[in-house]
Amino acid sequence: MISFDVERIREDFPTLNEKVNGRTLVYLDNAATTHKPKYVLDAIKDYYERFNANPNRGAHYLGVSATELYEGARERVRQFINARSTREIIFTRNATEALNLIAYSYGLKYIDEGDEIVVLISEHHSNIVPWQKIVQTKKAKLKYIYLNEDFRLDMEEVSIKITDKTKIVSLAQMSNVLGTIYPVKKIAEYAHSKGAIVIVDGAQSVPHMKVDVLDLDADFLVFSGHKMLGPMGIGVLYGKEEFLEKMPPFLMGGDMIEYVEEQSTTFAELPRKFEAGTPNVEGAVGLKAAIDYIEKIGFENIQRQEEELTAYALERLKEMPYVKIYGPLDMEDRGAVISFSLEGCHPHDVATIVDTYGVALRAGHHCAQPLMKYLKAPATSRVSFYFYNTKEEVDIFIDSLSKVRKWLGYGS
Ligand code: ALA
Repeated sequence: MISFDVERIREDFPTLNEKVNGRTLVYLDNAATTHKPKYVLDAIKDYYERFNANPNRGAHYLGVSATELYEGARERVRQFINARSTREIIFTRNATEALNLIAYSYGLKYIDEGDEIVVLISEHHSNIVPWQKIVQTKKAKLKYIYLNEDFRLDMEEVSIKITDKTKIVSLAQMSNVLGTIYPVKKIAEYAHSKGAIVIVDGAQSVPHMKVDVLDLDADFLVFSGHKMLGPMGIGVLYGKEEFLEKMPPFLMGGDMIEYVEEQSTTFAELPRKFEAGTPNVEGAVGLKAAIDYIEKIGFENIQRQEEELTAYALERLKEMPYVKIYGPLDMEDRGAVISFSLEGCHPHDVATIVDTYGVALRAGHHCAQPLMKYLKAPATSRVSFYFYNTKEEVDIFIDSLSKVRKWLGYGS
């Protein structure tokens, strides 16, 4: 772990020094995707300049090198989340594809009529829509755990919704809208006591905190590379070997086979059984570099910086009479995402106006329409921080936000 100097760190990120609308970019949309340090960009360039080849095929030097890099990245991911074996690490395109893989492979095989799948009302569409497909196909039921008034979760509600009929509990460790961090370990323990398996969507947590699959006792964990300094197009599915072993392949084709006869096929061992076609070596190399970079900064530093920024932004937002915050108002079990609305202003107007001051935030339903309906909010504005953001950036955001209502013709 190095000493934390945010100004030094920002020099590693070329995009953060870009001008937007004549102003220095203030990038507060990290829950959508993060920027990439030169270390990651160089690793990808180096791969293409020195090693580019199709792995797992050629016996030539470049092919062997590409295979070593790809498998090296898998081992790096294994260490990062403390999985037992690289057989449990499957590379996918993103967290969404990983959830679809579980739904189509595990869900179609193991969900039967009358079974129940339980998710939280705050789930991203990628953790809702695949399950809707499975329950419709299998005549099963999709149930939602609702939240309490401070946007957190009561174990009582958990124990009502998870029953002996529950076969799968699938939940994000941190909400991409509310910023709430849910007690996954406790929920997993309860779900297991009822005989259900637990899938953890780590898209918003893995980039920001140490996630240990053995400690959580997650049966599956999914996450995306691009939300943690890596490139787009690479994601990870972790699954306990005992489950992955008995699951059928999701995509069929090259690389995932053992023998192919005219009318039948036997499949490759894990993890290749789930990786059909030419893999994304560039993505895996970039993800490995991203993990190296994150671990060099250290989660202790990352969390301290994010907590400081989030607490400060919450405090400044609470001073604004026209702001309503959707999410916990204190820092207990909360991450660096803040959704809010500005009375009388459409979130898209908010985003467009603050953009003229160089501030990038997200507006919309954040791929969580059931949550929006539950909150009775058609859309929200959202800021989300990463460790490279600064207090000065929070000030620029608040200043620009304080001008929005005047732009739209209100007195203050
Ligand atoms: N899921 C990403 C977000 O919350 C795209 O912005």
